[in-house]
Amino acid sequence: MSVPAKDVTRRTGYVLNNRFVLNKPASFLIILLLLLSGCRESSFDSNLEQNVDDASLLRLSAQGGFVLPAIPEENPISDAKITLGRHLFYDTRLSGNETQSCESCHEQALAFTDGKALPQGSMGHTLVLNSQTLTNVAYNGSYTWWNPILIRMEDQLFIPMTGDDPVELGINDANTQAVLQRFRDDDNYQSLFSQAFPDDSDPFSLVNVNFALASFTRSLISDRSAFDKGEMSESARRGEALFFSEKMECFHCHNGFNFSSSTVTENTRFPERVFFNNGLYNLNSNGSYPDAIQGKFKVTNDWNDMGAFRPPTLRNIELTAPYMHDGSIATLGEVLDMYAAGGRNIESGEFSGDGRLNPFKSDFVSGFEMTPEEKQDLLNFLFSLTDNEFITDPRFSNPFPSELSE
Ligand code: HEC
Ligand code: HEC
Repeated sequence: MSVPAKDVTRRTGYVLNNRFVLNKPASFLIILLLLLSGCRESSFDSNLEQNVDDASLLRLSAQGGFVLPAIPEENPISDAKITLGRHLFYDTRLSGNETQSCESCHEQALAFTDGKALPQGSMGHTLVLNSQTLTNVAYNGSYTWWNPILIRMEDQLFIPMTGDDPVELGINDANTQAVLQRFRDDDNYQSLFSQAFPDDSDPFSLVNVNFALASFTRSLISDRSAFDKGEMSESARRGEALFFSEKMECFHCHNGFNFSSSTVTENTRFPERVFFNNGLYNLNSNGSYPDAIQGKFKVTNDWNDMGAFRPPTLRNIELTAPYMHDGSIATLGEVLDMYAAGGRNIESGEFSGDGRLNPFKSDFVSGFEMTPEEKQDLLNFLFSLTDNEFITDPRFSNPFPSELSE
């Protein structure tokens, strides 16, 4: 995962830009003006509708109180694209050596994680980062645990597809045509690709694969937990109050309907992207994180960003152990103990150091007293964010008969 965004985009000829973020507010203004001037049949108007309304597979539940995610104008979402993307997501033909699919690291039953601290790519390399949940990724203002400039899922997805340091799916210049040919040769994909990209004379391209995968991944919306349905126990409700208390401070960083931060919806005009150091490491007592992964610092080289990561969503957190960017905390109970202590003190070994004293740690992680009952209440609140309908929803499941899927 250490491939800088620029390398990936250069190799694939795909342009990383800011259109997604900059165009949204502008297009809303223009549409407002067009509506005011009575010019309703304009192409702008129908373009915007096409971004979302075609897709009945991308939908919100009545309970969740979510708004729709922002959809980039260059990749309007449709049911046909989501359906193609779902097939590709579960298809090992998408990896160079046909051994891995996206599902290898993102399993539905685990809210699209893999239960491992660190996964391995298709060539057997161990990655330095924990497989992220794909719960509500459509709303993330930036992608990956650490990178502040990957702001569109389309750009991020080229990394597992084509990254070479380390190799994940292992698509490269030498095998791209062979990989695409596997889909061209398949009658089912012939119709899936042409329905998803009806205007393309040859729809079999890596960019279209990427657009379809992004469309499917965007449709993975989880908004049907006990919390959303108001079906929480008394203990979970007490835990909710603790979560939102100034004593525990969780809500400062895990906020909004996605219990994340930097949440971007179709209504967001000025996305904020905040990254925090929560005191996991303190190598050499100078605040360093292990070389492999130092958070936002890796992009900015600014020591204030040392160990700063994007606060992940806490939805389905019960299902996505082990925790943190490197999978270094095994259980939720231990995560809560870490916050109560105001960081993690590692007493011996390669990564020893007192994270509680990390000079770059956020002031919101300052430690607190927690009784066993309060800990259980907070855990029950986190468990109330588990969405069983999400992890069993047939829209998100493997579309292939079982002998093809492994
Ligand atoms: C070998 C394991 C592996 C494979 C295969 C894999 N991923 Fe991932 N995925 C990861 C890891 C690890 C991260 C975190 C990367 C980081 O922080 O740099 C991640 C991050 C992501 C993210 C960003 C999530 C967020 O919240 O920012 C998305 C989206 C994603 N993967 C989708 C996919 C799709 C789609 C595929 C198939 C094309 C795929 N992944 C294949 C391991 C994998
Ligand atoms: C200063 C901001 C901040 C505060 C306050 C905070 N968190 Fe976090 N949280 C983060 C960040 C950043 C990460 C990811 C850190 C990493 O991976 O290195 C994280 C990670 C987590 C994780 C692991 C997520 C995963 O997918 O592995 C859990 C669980 C969690 N926090 C729960 C809480 C709870 C409960 C509280 C309150 C007691 C809390 N957080 C307070 C910023 C914060």
